[in-house]
Amino acid sequence: MLRALLFSAFIAASLAAALPAPGEFADCAAPNGTDKLMHWWQCNSGPVQFLNATPYDSAGKNYEYPIHLSQPIVVKTIINNPSATYTAGNLRNTVNIWKYGGWGGCVWSSIPTLGLLKDLDACANGVPCPIKPGNNQELDVVVDFTQFEQIIQLLKDNQPYQLEYILDDKITKDEACLMVQAWAYLK
Ligand SMILES: *[C@@H]1O[C@H](CO)[C@@H](O)[C@H](O)[C@H]1NC(C)=O
Repeated sequence: MLRALLFSAFIAASLAAALPAPGEFADCAAPNGTDKLMHWWQCNSGPVQFLNATPYDSAGKNYEYPIHLSQPIVVKTIINNPSATYTAGNLRNTVNIWKYGGWGGCVWSSIPTLGLLKDLDACANGVPCPIKPGNNQELDVVVDFTQFEQIIQLLKDNQPYQLEYILDDKITKDEACLMVQAWAYLK
């Protein structure tokens, strides 16, 4: 009887040691060096190619990292656009957001955007239009969540986030997809 009790106490203690205590999150290293630099990659094959993406302050004047999601941010990109002209109304944009770590371990998990960042008129939401054909052109995109208080409320200060920024054109059916991982402040 005593042995059985001791044994179950031992099992319980081992389980408690193996599982994180309630309220304790996994201690994750900053994914892809996001504690130091914004990490980005193109998440589709073209036709528009992203050659660079750099975060700037809301005025678009100074390099700023970590980013501040409580203010609009400017992501300065360099693109090659082989042939089409993308225009207001036809060019749509959608943003998806993920947070890192938490209960599930060191993985990305999707944050609901409540349909607020889906199929917006890109040219009225931060994209300078029209986007004309041309190589090595600068395209400064404003990402502004400040008008979406419901989304800001789901975010935490001083955390890494992953943003998928998708542009799709109704006329040509062309898509451009940029994935960004960045450390963000909310203050
Ligand atoms: C790091 O970035 C690469 C692309 O450069 C991506 O495939 C990978 O999933 C990223 N890792 C994490 C933990 O986000």
